[in-house]
Amino acid sequence: MSSASALPFDIFRPFKNTIEAFTPRDTLPWEELAPRVLRYMTEDGIVGLRPRHEVDAMSDWVDDQLGPARGAAILDIGCGPGLYSNRLAAHGYRVTGIDIAEPFLEHARAEAQAQGLSCDYRKLSMFDMTYDAEFAAALLLQSIAGRLSEPELGDLLLAIRRALQPGGSLICEFQVKSARFESAEPTVSESLSLLGQSPWSDEPHAWLLRDLYFPASDDNVNHHLILRADGPPAEYWSCFRLYTVPALTELMERCGLEVRAAFGPLPGRALLPDDSSCLIWAQRSAVESGWFSSGSAIPS
Ligand SMILES: C[S@@+](CC[C@H](N)C(=O)[O-])C[C@H]1O[C@@H](n2cnc3c(N)ncnc32)[C@H](O)[C@@H]1O
Repeated sequence: MSSASALPFDIFRPFKNTIEAFTPRDTLPWEELAPRVLRYMTEDGIVGLRPRHEVDAMSDWVDDQLGPARGAAILDIGCGPGLYSNRLAAHGYRVTGIDIAEPFLEHARAEAQAQGLSCDYRKLSMFDMTYDAEFAAALLLQSIAGRLSEPELGDLLLAIRRALQPGGSLICEFQVKSARFESAEPTVSESLSLLGQSPWSDEPHAWLLRDLYFPASDDNVNHHLILRADGPPAEYWSCFRLYTVPALTELMERCGLEVRAAFGPLPGRALLPDDSSCLIWAQRSAVESGWFSSGSAIPS
C-alpha cells in the first residue's frame, strides 16, 4: 500500500491495512456529533449535509416526478435534521422521519413546528423497522446504505420493501466507483488539519484523515484520528462500498425492488465518471425473489 504522506497517525494507532480490520464498518458517534454538526451553518445550510438548493431540487423532484399523490405517506430513513422531511411535509405529504440521533430529531421537530408543519419524527434505528405496507415512498439519502456490508444492506432493503405499499418507490443514495478509484493496488492518502472547533470537538484539536482504497472489495475507508490536548485520541472510521449501477440493480432485484432509473447525485441528471455518488429509484415489485441473508426468503 503506497502512502502519499507520512503523518503521525501510527504513533497513536496501529496501521490498519486490511478491510477486515475496519469492523464494524461505521463507528461514527452520530448522537455525539449531531449537536456540533448543527452549530456549523452557512446560508447554504448545514455544513457537511446537502446545500439548500440541492435539498430543494430533490424534494421538488419527489413531488413532481416521483408522483405519490399529495397527502401520501413518505418515510425518510436516517432523516437527520429533517431537511427533506420538512420540505416534503410543506409539499403536503405525511412524513415520518426516523433517526438514531436525538439532537437531529429535536432540530427537525423544532423546524417543523416553526413552519407549522406536522411531521412524525421518531428515534428508531433503520435496522429495527417493522413497518408493513405503510408508505408510498421511502428515502435513504446521504445516509448509511453504502456503509453496510452486503448482507446488512440486503436485510435493510427487505425491511424497506416491506414498509412500502405495492408499487411504492425507494430513492436511495450510494457511493459509486468514480474515476479516482482506478488503482489495482490498495492505496492510502493522508491529510492533517489543525482546528479550533469543528464537529469533532469544541476544543482545539488536530484531525488526521487517512483515506484508504481496497480494490479487491471496492471499499473506500475514511479513517479519522482526533487529537486533543484535553483527552485521549479519538478514532472513528466509515467504510464505503463503491458500487456500480448494474451491481445495485441486481442487489435491489434480489430484494424485490425493481430499478426504474439511476442518476448522478441529483435526480434527473446522468451519472458522470467523476461522480462519487448515485441515486437509485426503485419500486416495490410484485415479484418475490431469493434473498437469504438471514436464513429466510423475502417476506411478502
Ligand atoms: C449524513 S447524515 C444524513 C441525514 C439526512 N438523510 C440528510 O441527507 O440530510 C446520516 C444520518 O443517518 C443517521 N443514522 C445512522 N445510523 C442510523 C441507523 N441505524 N438508523 C437510523 N438512522 C441512522 C445519522 O444519525 C444521521 O442523521
